[in-house]
Amino acid sequence: MPTTTCIFDAYGTLFDVAAAARNAATEPGREKLAAVWPQLAEDWRLKQLQYTWLRAITGDYCPFWQVTQDGLDWAMERQGLGDDLELRERLLALYWELAAYKEVPAMLTRLKAAGRTTAILSNGSPDMLDGAVTSAVIGDVLDDVLSVESVGVFKPARTVYDMVGERFGTAPQDVLFVSSNGWDAAGAAQYGFHTVWVNRAGDPVDRLPAKPQHVLSDLTTIPDLAATL
Ligand code: LAC
Repeated sequence: MPTTTCIFDAYGTLFDVAAAARNAATEPGREKLAAVWPQLAEDWRLKQLQYTWLRAITGDYCPFWQVTQDGLDWAMERQGLGDDLELRERLLALYWELAAYKEVPAMLTRLKAAGRTTAILSNGSPDMLDGAVTSAVIGDVLDDVLSVESVGVFKPARTVYDMVGERFGTAPQDVLFVSSNGWDAAGAAQYGFHTVWVNRAGDPVDRLPAKPQHVLSDLTTIPDLAATL
């Protein structure tokens, strides 16, 4: 019996989070950003995620949009860009309309054609996710977009993964969960989902209690894999 339901992490998995800084760096007058954008993008992402984990531990939930801004503020200050409020607004606007990785629309279309349920399960705030799904034009090939906002804690808390069964009536073994975040894939594997880690950068596997069963370099073959599980 194939897995019925394919669940995707959003940021870094379907949407390219580095695109905001990379694209802003190509704009006129952004010489300073052009020199530092890879480090700024990495710091922004890492701080954003660290703040989710720390807030989950201390019980200080806030919308993902807040930790996205807080992470950016830290990253900009580190690069001496903390006073550039115009750049801050530009980067945040670009984050709202991140591009999907190029294989995403065809991959989701194939899953839907095969009769699978498809959805996002993300730390993202509902309005952020709505912006990204709309700008990537993938709303028609997603059955739902689930945000942790409704449980008030971030991944990898189990209550977040519980949202899938609550929404779709699935058991964990009915679900293929796909994330480019090694720690998210590990959390989902520990929960009992079939799990794919999308490892675009060729990083080492995270040393956490559970390991993803499958590692792919991009999303192209997800429909083939789903058909075998
Ligand atoms: C998300 C973050 C983890 O979309 O990327 O949930």
